[in-house]
Amino acid sequence: MAWLAAAAQRVIRLAAVLRPTKLLRLGLFALALGCAEQSGPEHEISGKQLYEHYCARCHGVDGRPVPEQPQARNLADRRIVDNLSDESISMTIRMGREPSMPAFRDTFTEASLQVLVAYVRQLSGSKGTHARPDGGP
Ligand code: HEC
Repeated sequence: MAWLAAAAQRVIRLAAVLRPTKLLRLGLFALALGCAEQSGPEHEISGKQLYEHYCARCHGVDGRPVPEQPQARNLADRRIVDNLSDESISMTIRMGREPSMPAFRDTFTEASLQVLVAYVRQLSGSKGTHARPDGGP
């Protein structure tokens, strides 16, 4: 138990060195870190989670439109998704589609948007080959 006492002593000494305001600031910093959007390098952005949270209520978990939104684009159909460029998918997400698809505007960071677009492609196995003039991935 000697190590415990030693550790406690060290904490007490540290607390004495740090002024209370500094401790408070450290605490606030930790709190801010905890509340920040989960997009830092320490958090993996999940396209699946984003899609299921924001898109699946219309486009369906697997990309096939839900019965209540039959006019939503079938994102499980590769022939459709291959014809959309990454840019146009991003734009659709940002600006929405009249009359029923909402504009998500600033809901997603640029990084989240890219992951989401990649996930949309994954739903149909689309490589976007027809969408890129250079035939790239
Ligand atoms: C409230 C229902 C709804 C939600 C939520 C929704 N969409 Fe849509 N989406 C639609 C409808 C309806 C269309 C077809 C619009 C049209 O006919 O042009 C569409 C079209 C699309 C298209 C095809 C655009 C094109 O150029 O043909 C893509 C890609 C798309 N949505 C992706 C998404 C993604 C990704 C999300 C989640 C971030 C999402 N949608 C959320 C209803 C929705």
